[in-house]
Amino acid sequence: MQRLKISSERGAYEVIAEAGAVSRLGAIVDEEGSPRPRSVVSNSIVGPLWGTPAASSLGAPLIELPDGEEHKRWSTIETLLGRWLDEGLHRGDLVAAVGGGVLTDTAGFAAAVFLRGIDWIAVPTTLLAMVDASVGGKTGVNLDQGKNLVGAFWPPRLVVIDVDTLATLPERELRAGLAEVVKTAWIGDHDLLTLVSSSLDMPATDEWEELVMRCVAVKAEIVGQDEREAGRRAALNLGHTLGHAIEAATGYRRFLHGEAVAWGLLASAMLGRRHGVLSSGGEETIKAAVASLGPLPPITDINPKSLSSHIGRDKKRNAKGIGWVLPTDDGIVLDQRVETDEAIEVLRELQKLWN
Ligand code: NAD
Ligand code: GLY
Repeated sequence: MQRLKISSERGAYEVIAEAGAVSRLGAIVDEEGSPRPRSVVSNSIVGPLWGTPAASSLGAPLIELPDGEEHKRWSTIETLLGRWLDEGLHRGDLVAAVGGGVLTDTAGFAAAVFLRGIDWIAVPTTLLAMVDASVGGKTGVNLDQGKNLVGAFWPPRLVVIDVDTLATLPERELRAGLAEVVKTAWIGDHDLLTLVSSSLDMPATDEWEELVMRCVAVKAEIVGQDEREAGRRAALNLGHTLGHAIEAATGYRRFLHGEAVAWGLLASAMLGRRHGVLSSGGEETIKAAVASLGPLPPITDINPKSLSSHIGRDKKRNAKGIGWVLPTDDGIVLDQRVETDEAIEVLRELQKLWN
């Protein structure tokens, strides 16, 4: 078992990693001195696998939301709030969210607005949710105009990670989550890259726990300093400016988020080198780490020019333009200006070299 404390404006909270934690959730919550959640929220895929044992361990009813990013919407929030009212939840009650990042973002946001805010416990079941989405307090849903455009900083009271849940995760999802691990490792723990490259043949629970908790430690350090993203938290956007543009240009259908981020990391390594902030050795290390995750869905047929309007709409845009995060040899540099033409040139190079 491993644990880490995350500081937050709402009070510090613990992240606990323990194999088998899902079926011991009731005991863990008791040991942490927390009231038991009165409702467990999961989805139609994760519910039968992990929501049911979690709910039975807690002695709480299970609500299954429909699965998929397309359900990370206001209408789902409204349905969930209605269910909680029907079940008689009131202020002071807790809820638990068992699932990937879509589920924890949605249920966490519902908790943030229910009766002006109730506490929640996150039980992430994808690698991406373990290393990123369940830590740091961002919750929210999508609008037609774009992803995560409405939400709240509403950190959970407790995060319980059970790496055994990764056993049922489709391998493609696991590989996509590993791209976020590469990102996190480059930001704050380069030695972690060795574990990433062997991770796909890594059955041992202890090694997965180590990989996950080292990522959590990097994110904890960042969000502990800058929970509301006034500056340093933007580091977590490494590889994301282009990644988001690739996802948007392909209608969010072709790439999993982590796969688009993997392309974004390759591009950011090339841009870092061009801008003189990253050595050629650093560029090659990032490219090798991404390559170790296996093939990505190709970008050959994406017209680089069609990406420019999506790059221009990046959420991290401010009055001065878009602040790109670029890799350096020992981490990252924030707020770099990259001309859209240059990003397009790099994308063309990537299309030639990597398909
Ligand atoms: P996801 O939640 O859609 O999960 C991927 C798929 O795997 C889904 O079909 C899900 O039902 C299924 N699944 C989940 N756990 C499983 C398991 N153990 N076994 C079998 N199937 C399982 O995708 P994701 O990659 O976890 O999350 C992506 C979302 O996270 C996006 O909406 C993104 O915006 C959000 N996100 C939020 C933050 C944050 O800081 N709040 C950070 C990164 C990403
Ligand atoms: N995933 C980016 C963040 O948490 O800020």
